Amino acid sequence: MRVRVLATPETVARVLAHDIARRLARDRRLVLGLPTGRTPIPLYRELVRLHRAGQADFSRATSFNLDEFLGLPGSDPRSYRAFMQRHLFDGINLPPRRIHVLDGMARNVARECLRYERAIDRAGGIDLQILGLGANGHIGFNEPARALVARTHRTRLRAATRRANAALFGGRLADVPHDALSMGMATILHAGRIVMLATGASKARCVSRMIQGPVTPHVPASFLQLHRHAEVWLDRTAASRL
Ligand code: GLP
Repeated sequence: MRVRVLATPETVARVLAHDIARRLARDRRLVLGLPTGRTPIPLYRELVRLHRAGQADFSRATSFNLDEFLGLPGSDPRSYRAFMQRHLFDGINLPPRRIHVLDGMARNVARECLRYERAIDRAGGIDLQILGLGANGHIGFNEPARALVARTHRTRLRAATRRANAALFGGRLADVPHDALSMGMATILHAGRIVMLATGASKARCVSRMIQGPVTPHVPASFLQLHRHAEVWLDRTAASRL
């Protein structure tokens, strides 16, 4: 894994946003995999700024989000779909028909997961997958476990993950869904290039386990060690235990 340490979360966001804009200029049909969470917010802000300045054109690009809560429609402000609208999609020119987010209200969950995998295939696979790091080592909603699931699937959220997401629910833990849909580990690892973003001191311990520890399903992010083009972009505090 290539590790890049930059001074602050804002620098990480700025440098990565320019990197994405350059890639888009070369390859307008770029297929992006996108995360939610606090970490990518500065990146999304930067991408919106670059788009408004005429430096990032998403008109031919495609996106696939990593995960979504089960039981919430995209119109619910607490859904990841709504999060993406607020922080990114409303500020750039990605065509709505090429924005893909798992449907948390799908009646037939297995069919929804299959539909998602097929849509990724039809788009030619994900070129650039951006990831955030759960403090327990999860990526997307692939939680630490004895075994991981390869493809897009329904998953039960760990208590720590529900607590970490409570802010989206006005701090009310009881309102955080217990289940979610998530791309699987193989879905993620099949991306051409992966950029894992981690910022802040609270991620430092997990960053060191992801990079320096063994590859283990107990730290799903450690599987990125197996990828040929995985990069970890950190600010100084997240890198403090390396
Ligand atoms: C959530 C998401 C993950 C995300 C993680 C980290 O649980 N499902 O995809 O990476 O939180 O969030 P944060 O960036 O807020 O630390």
